[in-house]
Amino acid sequence: EKITISVIKADIGGWPGHSRVHPQLVETAEEVLAGAKEKGTIIDFYVATCGDDLQLIMTHGKGVDSPEIHGLAWKAFEEATKVARGLGLYGAGQDLLKDAFSGNIRGMGPGIAEMEITLRKSEPVVTFHMDKTEPGAFNLPVFRMFADPFNTAGLVIDPNMHMGFRFEVWDIKEHKRVILNTPEELYDLLALIGAKSRYVIKRVFPKEGHKIPKDEPVAVISTEKLYQIAGEYVGKDDPVAIVRAQSGLPALGEVLEPFAFPHLVSGWMRGSHNGPVMPVPMRMANPTRFDGPPRVVALGWQISPEGRLVGPVDLFDDPAFDEARRKAIEIADYMRRHGPFEPHRLPMEDMEYTTLPGVLERLEGRFEPVE
Ligand code: 13P
Ligand code: 13P
Ligand code: MG
Ligand code: MG
Ligand code: MG
Ligand code: MG
Repeated sequence: EKITISVIKADIGGWPGHSRVHPQLVETAEEVLAGAKEKGTIIDFYVATCGDDLQLIMTHGKGVDSPEIHGLAWKAFEEATKVARGLGLYGAGQDLLKDAFSGNIRGMGPGIAEMEITLRKSEPVVTFHMDKTEPGAFNLPVFRMFADPFNTAGLVIDPNMHMGFRFEVWDIKEHKRVILNTPEELYDLLALIGAKSRYVIKRVFPKEGHKIPKDEPVAVISTEKLYQIAGEYVGKDDPVAIVRAQSGLPALGEVLEPFAFPHLVSGWMRGSHNGPVMPVPMRMANPTRFDGPPRVVALGWQISPEGRLVGPVDLFDDPAFDEARRKAIEIADYMRRHGPFEPHRLPMEDMEYTTLPGVLERLEGRFEPVE
């Protein structure tokens, strides 16, 4: 029997500014989801936060893209938005870009990662939650987990995963996708996903012959681009991901290992800057310095045979990640000293959806031709 894990998130108001979620928003979302659990719509849930983003983690039997589950998430966000408005929170309802729910939450503002899976005898799962960055921020770590033998020892020494994996990559500009096989097409994959603002890993699948059926994802990432929905900058598309671990998949520690390197991502202040992503426990997921630096939280779960969420375990709450945090602060200092200069500030093409064009417009009449 299959169960579905859905992680649906939205920024519906920051406290203060864009720094964190007010606890009353979490309580409101919990009430809505508790009601749905009682009615049997969902099996289990947990409401988490990362920075100013409210994260609904749910298990259920309704498959991906279920109107009922998406409608439930929408309702939780709407109810919490009312509370956010009452408290005068910053950007209340920020990510709810449409007025009325019409069957699928995709393209309405919230970010979504969902997978329908056949539970293994034991099903260890990690949900990742990022703030102040974009979906492409997962390209490097997910590549490392499932394709880099220097990260994942299992690719070399475990016969159950030695054959590699399949990556589904989306071109988010042209709305196209391609499936690439690793290790055979490793270089093609990197040619695409290195351009992380355009090509994003959407899902990873096992190959033929793996213990897990080849059409069942082993990792899925949210890829929603808010500006493409709203037509202008309304906050970055702070992404989430779900990754399964162990037994023919990367071990838990191989899933976490890429984050020991605080790689550069875009987002941070006004969604307009490059900076390091800092792996943090939940209590440290409140970005304040220059509205950052970007954060990533990892929550560990075992899924019970009935689909209950046994967790969360706050996986970056480990002194072994202190050095990554220290390094991230050092990189943050270094990047900040560039002020408004690239490559701290994003390149022009990525600034197109920010407030910068409004400034440049005013200078237009002042330009004159040069010989
Ligand atoms: P155990 O021997 O503790 O099960 O660990 C196996 C493993 O996969 C560690 O990475
Ligand atoms: P969020 O995307 O987290 O709302 O941040 C927006 C922003 O402009 C931060 O400076
Ligand atoms: Mg915000
Ligand atoms: Mg955010
Ligand atoms: Mg946001
Ligand atoms: Mg954002």
